[in-house]
Amino acid sequence: MAVKEIVLKDLDVTKFIEEKAKEVAGLVGDGVAINALSGGVDSSAVTMLGHKALGKRLKTYFIDNGIMRAGEPQRIKALFKGLGVDIEIIDAQDEFFNALKGITDPEEKREAITQAFYKDVFGRLVRKSGAKHLLQGTILTDVDETIAGIKRQHNVFEQLGIDPQKAFGYKIIEPLIQLRKDGVRKVAAGLGLPESAYKRIPFPGPALAARVIGEATKERVEIARKANAIVEEDLSHTGAFQYMAILHQDRVTGMRDGKRDFGLQIEVRCWDSIDARKATPTKVPYETLSKLADRIVAEVPGVVSVTYNITKKPPSTIEAI
Ligand code: XMP
Repeated sequence: MAVKEIVLKDLDVTKFIEEKAKEVAGLVGDGVAINALSGGVDSSAVTMLGHKALGKRLKTYFIDNGIMRAGEPQRIKALFKGLGVDIEIIDAQDEFFNALKGITDPEEKREAITQAFYKDVFGRLVRKSGAKHLLQGTILTDVDETIAGIKRQHNVFEQLGIDPQKAFGYKIIEPLIQLRKDGVRKVAAGLGLPESAYKRIPFPGPALAARVIGEATKERVEIARKANAIVEEDLSHTGAFQYMAILHQDRVTGMRDGKRDFGLQIEVRCWDSIDARKATPTKVPYETLSKLADRIVAEVPGVVSVTYNITKKPPSTIEAI
């Protein structure tokens, strides 16, 4: 069934929240539901909406899959504690790195993450909690790109003809599916999330694995994590839609301490966009880029080259895989 979009100008935030909370409560009935919070704006909004609808009957987990940004599990747990929502952190690092082992193809990587999330980790949490429903923050852009065959977004099933009940043993509820990022941000603000949460730059479900070209090993993800932390610090003042660091697979010849160093390449991307459907590279001042490159080569071991993407989406996409 086609999803009916709610465009920003037609979005009545209070009404939307009331209606969706009612809908979620009706679907879950007197049962329990689970959801996974990644700390991004979509899953943060769903967490608040789910708790409004279900209270303690929604169990929220942070899946520590080893591919999240630096310091995330503790930061997100503390933020939500302040909002009255308890989060349980699940250590699933080994499971995800095992699932990603040896995989270099982008779509296979995405599929490996999907299976590790939905079949293994959520499957186990559903059995443990007795939940029959998983609440998740899929938005319309995720659905569009998956259907178009551009990227298999980790959280899209029904539109691909996959029945989550059959495939994984539980139903999925997607209260934000009619919205795009701009709409979700307004709903997140309406749900009482602080600006630091609802204005946060988007982060993909496949996390840093989407920013490591080639195999996403623990070591390579750590390099991407360090570089992403620097990019987030140095580019946050731009107010851009999204910014990131990508670790390339190819090495290039560099030099360090007067010796040849066949080292790593980091690509920096910074995007201006409204809703992620189209995006243009931000005209970041050259001085800022130059300082960023100096920091990355100084602070991220093994990096000898930093480049800045100047290609629009389309034909590029926001993430590298
Ligand atoms: P792309 O790379 O397709 O990204 O231009 C568009 C927006 O979506 C984010 N993104 C994802 N979000 N699951 C998500 O929930 C995914 O699998 C996924 N892949 C990309 C990306 O960060 C950008 O904001």
